Amino acid sequence: MTFDKNRGSAYADIVNRICETGPISFEEFMEIALYSRNGYYSGHTSFGTHGDFYTSPSLHPVFGYLFAVQIINIWESMNRPNSFTVVEIGAGDGTLGIDIVSAIRSVDASILNCIEYIAIDRVPRGAVSGTEIISGDQLDLQIADLESCVVLSNELIDALPVEILEVKDRRTNFVMINVDENGDFKESLIETTIDELADVDLSALEGYRGPLCRKLGEWIPTVIDSIPKAVFINVDYGYEQTEYMSMPKSNRLLQTYYKHVDTLNPLDRVGDQDITAHVNFTALRKVFAQRGIKSVTNITQREWLFGLGYLDVLENMRLSGELSRREISLVDRLVEIDGLGEFRVEISQKGLDEAEISILSDGSNSYNCFNKVPPVTRNHMAYHFRV
Ligand SMILES: C[S@@+](CC[C@H](N)C(=O)[O-])C[C@H]1O[C@@H](n2cnc3c(N)ncnc32)[C@H](O)[C@@H]1O
Repeated sequence: MTFDKNRGSAYADIVNRICETGPISFEEFMEIALYSRNGYYSGHTSFGTHGDFYTSPSLHPVFGYLFAVQIINIWESMNRPNSFTVVEIGAGDGTLGIDIVSAIRSVDASILNCIEYIAIDRVPRGAVSGTEIISGDQLDLQIADLESCVVLSNELIDALPVEILEVKDRRTNFVMINVDENGDFKESLIETTIDELADVDLSALEGYRGPLCRKLGEWIPTVIDSIPKAVFINVDYGYEQTEYMSMPKSNRLLQTYYKHVDTLNPLDRVGDQDITAHVNFTALRKVFAQRGIKSVTNITQREWLFGLGYLDVLENMRLSGELSRREISLVDRLVEIDGLGEFRVEISQKGLDEAEISILSDGSNSYNCFNKVPPVTRNHMAYHFRV
């Protein structure tokens, strides 16, 4: 077999694994490609202008500001507990956490005596307000005896390793990855029984190919199970099961990003390109239910941000001359139909009483302070629109 040294260390790691064990699942391929020592998330500054993709927090601090408004509303609806923790999972370079803490501080610094922000990432690579981003297993020590918390994530779940499911001859198969004598990756199929699909009419799905995430719950640290009251806010892109597993979505749910271009083949540029999968929100809710977490609502990012006062904030910034026309069109991407505005915001809870749930579900916003949007920094795309 030819070992192509130019294809990088993550490529070599995968070839070595295949030589040791035989063909590997796509899930294992994605795990090594993204999260091994030489993987994509270990070595790259992947976010924003200089990365391969941008996310809502990396566009403009308005996103973090409105997230902070949501958090303060939840804290208020719980009668301002003295000890309230916000746990962000998949914090990346920490931009969202920095903006949320900064927004809370400028709205009312005394709130930070009660609200603590903990940022977690599988590949910790930064800090939020002087505190290092930690790995999930360090959380236990930090939140023993906690009464209530918010657990949030932005584009975490789409970054979890997935299998690739293919329907052939009315049977379900997973894609396996092997390597040929030229050192190129090759796919094969292995028939697999998938309990969740037992009732699905596979004849209508002949030829379907799409991701299936078996790690949908693994990002929730187990210590969260012991906290009596928790609100979950997970922002990501995806669909409900019926749309997710339909022929129009076949081959469209697994994406790769390299320098802002949606490339075609996840087996290319191993370790140098991002691989992501749309989220199946129906499946996510099933995993939540197993942990006693109940869905409150699932709305678009556009609806969510509008409910939190997006239009007023923008108008205020425009009137005060803070935003150029160019920046306004950049910020508007947060609510764009067919863009970030179509992302889903899954809000769920455990342990909340009826009154607290109704405040969460009606989406109304009792706390507004439009002139407190944190400053644009180098981490935001908006910064690079100014210079
Ligand atoms: C697409 S990035 C999003 C980063 C950031 N939330 C944002 O919106 O810019 C996904 C992040 O999730 C992290 N991640 C993936 N799986 C994780 C897990 N199980 N626990 C914590 N972080 C995880 C990755 O390391 C990466 O930083």
